Amino acid sequence: MTKVFIQTYGCQMNVADSDEMFTHLAARGAEYTDQLDEADIVLVNTCTVRDHAEHRAVSFLGRLAAWKKERPHRVIIFAGCAAERLGAEIQKKYPFLDILSGAKDIEHFSDRLDASGLFAAPGRAGEAPAPGLTGYVTIMRGCDFACSYCIVPSVRGPVKCLPAENILKEAAQKAAAGAKEIMLLGQTVNAYRDGQTSFADLLNRVSEVPGVERVRFTSPHPIYFTPAFLEAVKNNPKIARNVHLPVQSGSTKVLQEMKRGYTREIFLDKVRALKACGFTISTDIIVGFPTETEEDFRQTLSLVDEAEFFAAYCFKYSPRRGTPAAQMKLLDKKVLEERLDILLNRVRGLSDAAYQTQVGTVKEVLLESENKGRSSENFWVKTHKSYPVGSIVRTEIEKADGTLLFARD
Ligand code: 5AD
Ligand code: SF4
Repeated sequence: MTKVFIQTYGCQMNVADSDEMFTHLAARGAEYTDQLDEADIVLVNTCTVRDHAEHRAVSFLGRLAAWKKERPHRVIIFAGCAAERLGAEIQKKYPFLDILSGAKDIEHFSDRLDASGLFAAPGRAGEAPAPGLTGYVTIMRGCDFACSYCIVPSVRGPVKCLPAENILKEAAQKAAAGAKEIMLLGQTVNAYRDGQTSFADLLNRVSEVPGVERVRFTSPHPIYFTPAFLEAVKNNPKIARNVHLPVQSGSTKVLQEMKRGYTREIFLDKVRALKACGFTISTDIIVGFPTETEEDFRQTLSLVDEAEFFAAYCFKYSPRRGTPAAQMKLLDKKVLEERLDILLNRVRGLSDAAYQTQVGTVKEVLLESENKGRSSENFWVKTHKSYPVGSIVRTEIEKADGTLLFARD
């Protein structure tokens, strides 16, 4: 039996893409292994959003030289966003690479396998890996924005929404295979539209699929959180009350230079509206965008204080070749490090503080093990008693310790 080892870098979209690529390999008789040593095929699904991510994927590829030398019939597939960006350049540098399949190519992955001549014709339809408690469903690919620092639109291309009927079918399959929670994925997931079906309609319809207890989605763009959206979802408790809402900067001037399409005030308005519907909000922040002044940075710190995020992921600005911001003069490295340090200190306590506010509330916990699960708002909750995995327990919260709530059940 041919065995495939999968190494995925980057976001949840990439995880879902790896699953999809696996189905095409499975259709050609491959079986999954988590041991690189015993694999015949390795699929490296890559990320290029920051230089560091790309570097990790490329160095993994470098290390595969010896793996391939051991048994030269082994097959190396380099796929995803870094593969798209690097193209022929990477093939030249690593001639032992067998198949290159960029992120825009995902729909043609099967053709790529056939064109390589390394695989027999596909047989039975390949099965997706078992979904576990959460089933990931891609609803749209690509991005129509042009944020000045971001490589994504160039490697993933413009938005393409998948037909709502296909999405519902896939959600139903995942639910039938045991998923209780469906996570809808897209680069700007809430820009979704298919004819008359809006993103809110889709959320509501997925929540009605038999077996689906909870629907999550990532990553949304702030501008699509309209009052109409909130109105459409506020009476549906199956739509999880947690969003990852990247802000990137707290300065309106920097946001404009980043071409984000909103101001600090507009973002904070969205935060207030989402919180009023019970959502917890995590975010991404980029530190040291080329034009960021001390005052701009202070604005980011004050936005963090005002928004009371559930969590914030902070990244050092990383210039990406071909993006408009890559033409700008970089900030001093030391300044960048200092700002990152200050910001990391500021965001460190956010989750603990959010957890503390939950004592005394009543939560519905979807159990991921016999006595631990997540609430709709994404809080981790430990129950007193044990329950079957996948059940939902409604319970009051007795205390909080760090990033764990203890239930009174
Ligand atoms: N430099 C640093 N961080 C970036 N991100 C995207 N592009 C860059 C870049 N060039 C961050 C953003 C985004 C997250 C996925 O990665 O914060 O939300
Ligand atoms: Fe990149 Fe902006 Fe699109 Fe997000 S919305 S993927 S940051 S261009």
